[in-house]
Amino acid sequence: MKSIFLLSFLLLILPFSSQTPNPNLKPPLHQAELINFGFPVGLLPASVKKYTLNQTSGHFAVDLGGTCKITLPPDNYLAAYSKRITGKIENGKIAELDGIRVRALFKWWSITGIRSSGDNLVFEVGMVTAKYPAKNFDESPFCEGRHSSS
Ligand SMILES: *[C@@H]1O[C@H](CO)[C@@H](O)[C@H](O)[C@H]1NC(C)=O
Repeated sequence: MKSIFLLSFLLLILPFSSQTPNPNLKPPLHQAELINFGFPVGLLPASVKKYTLNQTSGHFAVDLGGTCKITLPPDNYLAAYSKRITGKIENGKIAELDGIRVRALFKWWSITGIRSSGDNLVFEVGMVTAKYPAKNFDESPFCEGRHSSS
């Protein structure tokens, strides 16, 4: 009698215990937050080690564990990410951005802000802006030629 009870108990819980959600399948916190604020996850490289956000002020800090270079679609601009990226995020708007630079016209330009505008992302370099379809940033890119530990 006891063993039958045990068996049916096991049969009852086994299917559930094998379906325990795998936490690794959830998007990382910084990606979930980017989506919440209306941005695609591909704005940040895949190598995010630590992410903090002050929910009140919107100030955030992203630690990549090392510097990172990525060729950005669609024009193949080279982007350089600092070890630590900081800024202020609100719905559809990232301001006070520090830590992302783009190589163009033989110079490095700091991206100071990013806005989400319909299907586009508007990158601000001081007073200059450049608009790109957001779908180019649907996936987190991997860093190229990294020397620090991944
Ligand atoms: C978050 O931002 C608010 C408003 O600027 C500030 O008062 C608070 O100290 C900040 N919290 C942390 C943990 O930095």
